[in-house]
Amino acid sequence: MDKEEWAGRVGDVWATEQHRTDRTFEPVDEALVEAAVAAVYGIATPHILDVGCGAGTTSFSLATRLPGATINGIDLSPALSGAAVARAAGLPDHVRSRCRFERADATVWTGETGFDLLVSRHGVMFFDDPVAAFAHLRSLAKAGGRLVFSCFRAPKENAWVAKFAHLMPGGPSDPHAPGPFAFADRDRVAAILAEAGWRDAQATALDFAYVAGAGGDPVADANDFFARIGPVSRAIRELDEAGRERLRAGLDEQVRAHFDGEKVSFPAAAWIWSAQA
Ligand SMILES: C[S@@+](CC[C@H](N)C(=O)[O-])C[C@H]1O[C@@H](n2cnc3c(N)ncnc32)[C@H](O)[C@@H]1O
Repeated sequence: MDKEEWAGRVGDVWATEQHRTDRTFEPVDEALVEAAVAAVYGIATPHILDVGCGAGTTSFSLATRLPGATINGIDLSPALSGAAVARAAGLPDHVRSRCRFERADATVWTGETGFDLLVSRHGVMFFDDPVAAFAHLRSLAKAGGRLVFSCFRAPKENAWVAKFAHLMPGGPSDPHAPGPFAFADRDRVAAILAEAGWRDAQATALDFAYVAGAGGDPVADANDFFARIGPVSRAIRELDEAGRERLRAGLDEQVRAHFDGEKVSFPAAAWIWSAQA
């Protein structure tokens, strides 16, 4: 998954799917915000950079939890950074006035420096050169500034993708290639952070329920969501007609198997990382 995809089609889809992606990430957001709040404990007016901020949800959560914080959100996608600006306009003044959003590539952005905290909800696994990118991000932090981010653990620990793996286009692929699972390997990420000059890196495992479907017809909602966004949607585009049919049937079967009468949810697994500049 490369920069062009986020700046184009994939970012556009994420912008239209903001409500449903936020629903899947809700438990991650809670854990991430707790870790972020702890990281800036004792700083009355923390200056925070939200890296790959998407449509702004984590920035808004932080602005709400930390009344003295100012937050810069940057994202590659014009659609997502635009969505963040539009959403901010609907928020109370005391939140909106402390959040600024910008379309930018975090690996080269130099808009401001001296951040107390860099935070990212699943926005840092897409860098072509992770060591260079994290070294650049470190240069944006003040001395002793903190880094807190989330990312997925291995696909096999994430049933929302593992359940469909046998129906996806096969073939070996580079597990470290930029993409949603590029940071699954804890030792690799620890090495990247150390080489980039971040110290005291710690990863905490978070197991959570990935809610893929809810509302009036949760099964239809989940089938539609998977077909619109993420690895299943990509596979649907890449497969031939027969493979597509098999995947759609397998998807529906798993979605029904994970419906509890109220919502469709799958076990999911993330890391919450923290480190210091
Ligand atoms: C999985 S989405 C997460 C978005 C948002 N943080 C959320 O939780 O909803 C990954 C985000 O990272 C952004 N991104 C990827 N590479 C980036 C880069 N080099 N600079 C800025 N944003 C980037 C994408 O555009 C996308 O919005």
